[in-house]
Amino acid sequence: TFDNVEQAPPDAIFAVLNAFKADTDSRKINLSVGAYRTDEGTPWVLPTVAKVEGTLKNVNHEYLPIDGNPVYNAGMRDLALGKDSIAIKEERTCAVQMLSGTGALRIAAEFISKFHQSKTILVSTPTWGNHNAIFKRANLDILPYRYYKAETRGLDFEGMIADLEAAPEHSTVLLHACAHNPTGVDPTNEQWAQIAVVMKQKGHFPLFDCAYQGFMSGNLADDAFAIRYFVEQGFECLVCQSCSKNFGLYNERAGCLTAVLSTKEAAAAVLSQLKILVRSSYSNPPNHGAAIVANILSDASLYKDWEDDLNTMSGRILSMRQQLHDAIVAKGATQDWSHMLKQRGMFTFTGLTPAQVERLTSEFHVYLLKNGRINMCGVNSHNIDYLANAIVEVTK
Ligand code: LMR
Repeated sequence: TFDNVEQAPPDAIFAVLNAFKADTDSRKINLSVGAYRTDEGTPWVLPTVAKVEGTLKNVNHEYLPIDGNPVYNAGMRDLALGKDSIAIKEERTCAVQMLSGTGALRIAAEFISKFHQSKTILVSTPTWGNHNAIFKRANLDILPYRYYKAETRGLDFEGMIADLEAAPEHSTVLLHACAHNPTGVDPTNEQWAQIAVVMKQKGHFPLFDCAYQGFMSGNLADDAFAIRYFVEQGFECLVCQSCSKNFGLYNERAGCLTAVLSTKEAAAAVLSQLKILVRSSYSNPPNHGAAIVANILSDASLYKDWEDDLNTMSGRILSMRQQLHDAIVAKGATQDWSHMLKQRGMFTFTGLTPAQVERLTSEFHVYLLKNGRINMCGVNSHNIDYLANAIVEVTK
């Protein structure tokens, strides 16, 4: 029956990780999948997460409700929108626990496909590879918008605005809330305000992918600026949240889909439909990761400890940006590397060409994405010198 099934290509990001794992050279460096690493190159269980994990009570294996843990959902909603959000006060939000950010995007895409008047979704060029796959599977029509300018290694703001203006009215626009993946390039707050004006004029609908809140700057409110600004401007929106990076809960699949609607009635109706999508996809979500997050978000003292953990991670990334930049320059780089300092969050979009990436991997055992994206968390005090040499060598 399935004799004619074609072999599918491996996932672009996880394939690089697998190649890294298979490499036996002791100098190898993994700059691929977006996961945090300590200066020793090891995974980091956040101390606050470890502390809560040891105290979890009443653990049984009963089903969670279809929409998940209510304390978790309220905490995640507050995290994205801010406790004092006008939308929360007016009770026109709903939040549903999801299978991390990817699960939230998938359910959001299906919801938009089923209920939004437009099937068009605008997606930045470039974007996280899985975005396009998810939206395609949900039968949305993907329209790219300009975002990254290779010449400046920064934002193509004019191009982005022009493409938002040219798109069909009422399109959905996928916006990375902060720490754009893969480029690390974000609009300024003033630019977000201008984006909002154009989207309002065109009746576009914002879908936020929020995978790095607090992980980028250590400041939760700053990293949620775009979401909160759009809500203040009266937009309805969907926010897909992940706890993978900011709680280090990669394999627990804790995420959330928070929706802001224009009325309380709409919020209730949307919630009921999201539950149908969840029930027919995977019935109800897993408990463990969300239970940890719920405890942290609902306890002022743990919340504060978690913010310290976030500062540890974002601080180490910032320090690696500076140190790698300085080392590359000191070793006689022939091109400008200031973008490494300007880009934000986990990733630097290096501007390395596919041929240079290929050389880095085959000659130097450095594993990064073909598009030149590197995970700054893979850089540490032990490998930085070797890495800087390798980068300078392939860019000579
Ligand atoms: C990444 O972009 O590396 C991360 O978001 C992990 C993933 O699932 O691709």
